[in-house]
Amino acid sequence: MPTQSDQPTKPIRLGVLISGSGRTLMNLHALISAGELPVRVAVVIASRHCKGEELAREAGLAVEVVPYRKAADVHQYSQRITALLDGASVDLVVMAGFLSLWHIPPPYEGRVINIHPALLPSFGGRGMYGHVVHEAVLAAGCKVSGCTVHFVTNEYDRGPIIVQRTAPVLEGDTPDSLAARVFQEELLAMPEAIRLFAQGRLRIEGQVVHVR
Ligand code: GAR
Repeated sequence: MPTQSDQPTKPIRLGVLISGSGRTLMNLHALISAGELPVRVAVVIASRHCKGEELAREAGLAVEVVPYRKAADVHQYSQRITALLDGASVDLVVMAGFLSLWHIPPPYEGRVINIHPALLPSFGGRGMYGHVVHEAVLAAGCKVSGCTVHFVTNEYDRGPIIVQRTAPVLEGDTPDSLAARVFQEELLAMPEAIRLFAQGRLRIEGQVVHVR
């Protein structure tokens, strides 16, 4: 997997992949608008018509909807996603609650990050999304949970970890209450990871991300 080179001289360009409510995207947009995150959203790609798509359009962002069911197979689907990202000259791809499968082509290796609402490598893998994750954390009796931002590889939730933040599991928690507490940490973790990437401070060595 390639590592980052020199610090960029202009704001890096993000491609943000979404499938749902778009809170992660809108948090980034708010920080960028406030001048607190030195990047720009070059394109938003939604895997279906969703709330996030509406919010992105209202915010004036460039949005493309690429429904998986309209593609012949995962390869054709992935090619469509890649072509849109290429067309927008994206430096970093951010998966922000993206539910479809995009096979990452070699030029994007080390340039795709994902946020997961648990402390990986626990509670990850195929089908572990949103509420299912929090239900599993509660069923396991964990006393702490959190979120993970990691580089994406073509293996579910297994890529090198960039940032993790924790949240306590409290007596009487439901999947909803735990999700809400973890999400407060997600609002900090994703921008932190993007900032580190944009500053050229991340070096991937095998499974480990070293932060300069
Ligand atoms: C976030 O909580 C994110 O961690 C989770 O989906 C939510 C997206 O919310 N991602 C996963 O579970 C990935 N396995 P949003 O659409 O409102 O940004």
